[in-house]
Amino acid sequence: MTQTENKPEVNDTPLVPIEKIVSLCKRRGFVYPNSEIYGGVSGIYDFGPMGVELRNNIRRYWWWSMVQNHDNVLGIEGAIITHPRVWEASGHVENFVDKLVDCKKCKRRFRIDHLEPENLEQHKCPVCGGELTTEPRVFNLLMETYLGVVEGDRMKTYLRGEACQDIYLDYDNVLKSSRVQVPFGICQIGKAFRNEVTPGNFLFRQREFEQWDLQFFVHPDEMQKWFDYWKEFRYQWYLSILNHKDRIRFREHAPDELAHYAKQAYDIEYQTILGWQEWEGIHWRQDWDLSRHSQYSGQDLSYTDPNTKERYIPWIVETSGGVDRTFLNLLLDAYEEEPDPAGKEPRTVLRLNPMLAPVKVAVLPLQKNKEELVTTAKDIHKKLQRLMVSQYDDVQNIGRRYRRQDEIGTPYCVTIDFQTLDDQTVTIRERDSMTQQRIAISELPMYLLERVSFK
Ligand code: GAP
Repeated sequence: MTQTENKPEVNDTPLVPIEKIVSLCKRRGFVYPNSEIYGGVSGIYDFGPMGVELRNNIRRYWWWSMVQNHDNVLGIEGAIITHPRVWEASGHVENFVDKLVDCKKCKRRFRIDHLEPENLEQHKCPVCGGELTTEPRVFNLLMETYLGVVEGDRMKTYLRGEACQDIYLDYDNVLKSSRVQVPFGICQIGKAFRNEVTPGNFLFRQREFEQWDLQFFVHPDEMQKWFDYWKEFRYQWYLSILNHKDRIRFREHAPDELAHYAKQAYDIEYQTILGWQEWEGIHWRQDWDLSRHSQYSGQDLSYTDPNTKERYIPWIVETSGGVDRTFLNLLLDAYEEEPDPAGKEPRTVLRLNPMLAPVKVAVLPLQKNKEELVTTAKDIHKKLQRLMVSQYDDVQNIGRRYRRQDEIGTPYCVTIDFQTLDDQTVTIRERDSMTQQRIAISELPMYLLERVSFK
């Protein structure tokens, strides 16, 4: 039986269809299908001007919380291509597989771990009811590549199937070069590659995606304490960026899902129109990874406590999540179509947390044909641009400009009007409440910085 903690209360706010997000992402420059002019590649995406800002902010906020604000956590950035033995030691060459069955009638292909038990037992296609093949075919998800130029001498290796392996490979170097002591952690954000057989649901399951990992190295006696600490820390972290706080929960792995070395494992799940889906895993990895790399590399990866002189292989708490799933979940969480009180077009608004919004402020002269308004607005924009992402916009009426900014989640719009020229004040409009207030130009930088900085 799977046990669930923090079950949400009844959730009556409608869940946003993925298609709405796909359309917004294309229209407003968040995400494009990769190689679109050639017909695209399934499960591979590019990030546009708005997407890259949002993504950078999400990454920075993770790094700020995990590395900058923990004295015992350090960061690395490892390579995508590693020695091929890494993937033998990790077990990926042997075990990183999907098992698939095909429908003999409609020819669709299904991962057996995604089929409902009744479909599996009755060999029945969940789409057309046709007969499913009985013997699953096995596919390894690792993406192969070759190093070297001389045919015959080229070495087969892999694009990393999970980013975290670099952390185990660099663990000893970090220990020796940074003078840290157990307990300590290493963080990394980086790309991972998987030949997913059924990529889909936009950014949810891709073939090239990005992960963030913490591997926290502890004395075995302290494993439970640190597992509990990071489990709670990561949950609170996700809560801090969500509007719909009832759409997140823990799912504890059932005994038959646990790796042989794991006492416990939890997924942090988010509820979307696709149901409850994994967002991040909190894993009890014991000494599995360092022991395997010791064994396969022949290097001693044990640790000697400088005080007690005790020698042991540190145990590991892993927190491993997806940058792309965070990106997608945040858009699903923030998207709203708000009915217009005057019965006009609904207002599409992205209620992103201001610290993550791609553009922090838009500077808008009330009229484009009044030179003093334009000059003052451009001057304010130039000054704000040095502190945060600011956009200058003078195209179309002010209402339309507000709508454009709402749609990309800009938390603040500053309007320069005729009163500005008299008293050096501007109106500042807040995205969610649409309330406006007048403030002095000199107070703008502080006002905004206080509201868009990480906290
Ligand atoms: N090192 C542990 C590890 O890789 P995982 O559950 O396979 O664990 C961690 O991946 C996270 O990476 C997942 O919780 C998910 O957020 C993200 N992820 C995994 N496969 C993905 C895919 N094909 N597309 C997008 N994100 C993915």
